[in-house]
Amino acid sequence: MIITSDINAVREFVKKNKKEGKSVALVPTMGYLHEGHASLIAKARKENDIVVVSIFVNPTQFGPNEDYAFYPRDIDNDAALCENIGVDLIFNPTPETMYGKNYYTSVSMNTLTENLCGLSRPVHFGGVCTVVAKLFNIVTPDNAYFGQKDAQQLAIIRQMTKDLNFDINIVGCPIVRENDGLAKSSRNVYLSNEERKSALILSKTIFLAQKIVREGEKDAKSLLKIMEDNIKSEPRAKIDYIKVVDGLTIQDIEIIEKPTLVAMAVYIGKTRLIDNFIFD
Ligand code: PAJ
Repeated sequence: MIITSDINAVREFVKKNKKEGKSVALVPTMGYLHEGHASLIAKARKENDIVVVSIFVNPTQFGPNEDYAFYPRDIDNDAALCENIGVDLIFNPTPETMYGKNYYTSVSMNTLTENLCGLSRPVHFGGVCTVVAKLFNIVTPDNAYFGQKDAQQLAIIRQMTKDLNFDINIVGCPIVRENDGLAKSSRNVYLSNEERKSALILSKTIFLAQKIVREGEKDAKSLLKIMEDNIKSEPRAKIDYIKVVDGLTIQDIEIIEKPTLVAMAVYIGKTRLIDNFIFD
C-alpha cells in the first residue's frame, strides 16, 4: 500500500492503472477510521481493481467555532485498517498541498445546502463540495463511495456530480451502527460514559419514526411531534433540528412520499450527533 501526500504521485499512479484498463475507486474520508468508513472501503474493494482512500481533515468545511483543531486524528491506525482491507493508495495531503497560499476558487451550491445541517453550519457544504471536487479532479475515480450516515452530504455530492458533469458514479452505502444502535461516528469519542448512554435517544427515535412511517403515517407534522417528544424525554439531549424533507432536493415537505429523508441533529452535552433514515 502506498501512502502519499503528493498530488502528482496520485495522478501518476492512477494514470498508470487506468492505462492498464483498471477501474479506480475513491473513498473520501477525514480519517480516524471506524467500521462505518471500513464498510465503504470494503465495498469499494469488492467492486473495483484499484482503491484509493483520501484522509484529509478539511479546514474549509469547519466553521470558526467548530472542532477543526480538536478533530481526532490517528494516521497509524487508519493506515493499518486500510492495509487490512486491501487499499492500494492512501492520499493524505496537508492543508498547504490542498489549498496553497493562493486559493480563490470554490464550489458553492444553493437549495440542497440551505436546510438541515446547512442551517446551523453555513460554511460547511461549500467546503465539502470544494474539497470533494478537488479530490475528484486529482484522483479521477470511476466510482466514489459515500455513506448514508451523512444523507444531506450524499444528496449534495450526487447533485454536484450531475451539475458539474463529473464522469463519476456515486455509490451510496448504508449506515453502520454500534450493536446498541448508535450510528458510528468519529465524533463519538467526545462522549463521556453517561453521554454515550444518552446518545442512544437518537437511534431509538429514528427506529421509532421508521416504524411509524412504514405503518403508513403520511403527515410530517404528526411524525415530527412524536420524534420531538421522544428526544425531549432525554434530559441531556438538545435538538438542533428534526426535519422531514424531500430526499433529492432537501426541501421541507408536509406529506410523506418517497423518497423522503427524515433527519436530525441533536446535541448530547457539547457533542453534536446526526442520524437519519430514508423512506425509499
Ligand atoms: P468523514 O466524516 O470521515 O466520513 C467519510 C465517509 O464515511 C462519508 O461518506 C460518511 O458518510 C461515511 N460514514 C461515516 N460514518 C458512517 C457510518 N456510521 N456508516 C456509514 N458511512 C459512514 O464525510 C466526510 O468525512 C467529509 O465531509 C468528506 C466527504 C471526506 C469531505 O471532507
